[in-house]
Amino acid sequence: MFNNSIEILERRTHMRTLIVYTSKYGFTENVAKILGDHIEGDVAIHKCDKDYSVDLTKFENVIVGSSLYVGKPNNAVLDFCEKYQRLLMSKRLGFFVTGTTGKEAVEALRLNFPEDMVKKSEAIGCFGYALNFEKMRFFDRLVTRIVLKKDQSEVEIDSEAIEMFAQKFNKHNMRSDSK
Ligand SMILES: Cc1cc2nc3c(=O)[nH]c(=O)nc-3n(C[C@H](O)[C@H](O)[C@H](O)COP(=O)(O)O)c2cc1C
Repeated sequence: MFNNSIEILERRTHMRTLIVYTSKYGFTENVAKILGDHIEGDVAIHKCDKDYSVDLTKFENVIVGSSLYVGKPNNAVLDFCEKYQRLLMSKRLGFFVTGTTGKEAVEALRLNFPEDMVKKSEAIGCFGYALNFEKMRFFDRLVTRIVLKKDQSEVEIDSEAIEMFAQKFNKHNMRSDSK
């Protein structure tokens, strides 16, 4: 009846999210994909080992993830954050790690990623860990036995942490395309 008089002034859609991650033996890759399934709107997942050639201008959200090795996230994601610091500071951000140490792993995240980025992030978390002795290189096996004091393969995926992270991140994950 009054259809003709309606004018759409604003169209609200979800923001586009890029998940950038590194993974040595595949666990962080798996949880990055699971997280991607929980994030509303278009999601692209990008492994950041050597290749940073991704057009950040296409995304309003960026989530950065890494496994921890001897207390540190992988250098490739740290370099990524440094290189694109200014552009990244204009995005909605999130950070996650994987690691055996739970709360300490989250603390390592806070200490190692740029402070201003962590401060403005919508969500941070540790999503569990996998230790796969069959895949591990000799030195990593040695460190796992001596430092982590573990001598068997283990997988502990923290689905609750992933869901909580996604819930926080999905809040206000909307952009308006004004007409
Ligand atoms: C050599 C070695 C060192 C590790 N150091 C840490 C550490 O300092 N803190 C931690 O929480 N987890 C540590 N871990 C556990 C890894 O972060 C965990 O296994 C992670 O899930 C691996 O993910 P990826 O397969 O994506 O590399 C270590 C694992 C290995 C093999």
